[in-house]
Amino acid sequence: MKVHLQTVSRRSQVSRAGDHDGGPAASADGGGGARITGGRGAAATRVSVAPMMDKSDRDFRYLARLFSPHTLLYTEMVSPRAVLYGDRDVLLGFEQVERPLALQLGGDDADELKAATRIAADYGYDEINLNIGCPSDRVQEGRFGACLMARPRHVADLVAEMRSVTNLPVTVKHRIGIDGLEQYQDLVRFVETVVPSGPAKLTVHARIAILKGLSPKENRSVPPLRYHDVYRLKREFPKEFIELNGGVGTIAAVHTHLAEVDAVMIGRAAYDTPKLLAEVEREVFDSAFVAPTRGEIVERMLAYIERRQAAGRPPHTVFRHMLGLFACLPGSRSWKRALSGGIAKDVDVKAVLHRALAGVPREVLDQRVASKG
Ligand SMILES: Cc1cc2nc3c(=O)[nH]c(=O)nc-3n(C[C@H](O)[C@H](O)[C@H](O)COP(=O)(O)O)c2cc1C
Repeated sequence: MKVHLQTVSRRSQVSRAGDHDGGPAASADGGGGARITGGRGAAATRVSVAPMMDKSDRDFRYLARLFSPHTLLYTEMVSPRAVLYGDRDVLLGFEQVERPLALQLGGDDADELKAATRIAADYGYDEINLNIGCPSDRVQEGRFGACLMARPRHVADLVAEMRSVTNLPVTVKHRIGIDGLEQYQDLVRFVETVVPSGPAKLTVHARIAILKGLSPKENRSVPPLRYHDVYRLKREFPKEFIELNGGVGTIAAVHTHLAEVDAVMIGRAAYDTPKLLAEVEREVFDSAFVAPTRGEIVERMLAYIERRQAAGRPPHTVFRHMLGLFACLPGSRSWKRALSGGIAKDVDVKAVLHRALAGVPREVLDQRVASKG
């Protein structure tokens, strides 16, 4: 342990330029790095990590980035009204290392979405995504999310309005259907109505959402996955950039879907087993990236948590994303127990991590999260 919290291997190449807090960038269309000049830009990345409330926050995204520099990451869904009236730096701030990064907005008011899009572009996001897939009651009360699949013309208007204020790719995440609009042809009608407004990508969750009777959680497992509908959509709309989402949990599945569609979005599996992202990095992006060891990941996270703690953020909000780091490996249980205990705001992060690693064998710490194929 002495070694692991003191020496960060630079070989892992997890440190990238501009590794600092993001605020409004200079340019209105993705400043603070490579300028997106319209077209699909980062939105065309072959693999992404899904927007997930309470999970895909900036702390998780920092961790995910250590496993894969190239995967496109999404924020949690953010309400445009919150962007307009809330604490913008808390809602939209991020570190440059998280890029390529897409902001997901959930709303149905064109003026609010436009204003939020403008503000988000100033923060340096690479893509703005509109959520047409969420089935929660709260979201339905606001008449946005998946229920907007019944109003494709309105969705097209929203996309056009958002595009009118930014050069960033504006994209849509939706389902293959909702109750009453469950057939493949209903999906086609939605897509052919929305496409003329120019979304740079359609991310299609390959399940219908049942708005009456199922919880959001059930809506992510009960309706059957219909991958062939998404494959067929790509065949029938060959010019559109189509990303498949839902139930993708292995690198083999990623390859299978990429043979049929343009991109794959991974949600729960990326959160529960981020090592999958290191496999994606190696096999899909084919980059020179050398996957870090788990010890190196802990070291990087230590530095990150201390930085966030200095900015007033309690460490346990980051620890919670790290609980699965040693899943199925020796020492996992003591790691989790020690991390779960470190909830005080001023806790000594290094001491907690030392304690948490005490039961993890050296060879586990030294193992790379994905070996070279
Ligand atoms: C905890 C949780 C929160 C989610 N929050 C959002 C969200 O904010 N916006 C959204 O479009 N989808 C959200 N989703 C759905 C995911 O983006 C994704 O579509 C779904 O989990 C299916 O992909 P998967 O099987 O790879 O997890 C959420 C999923 C989970 C598990």
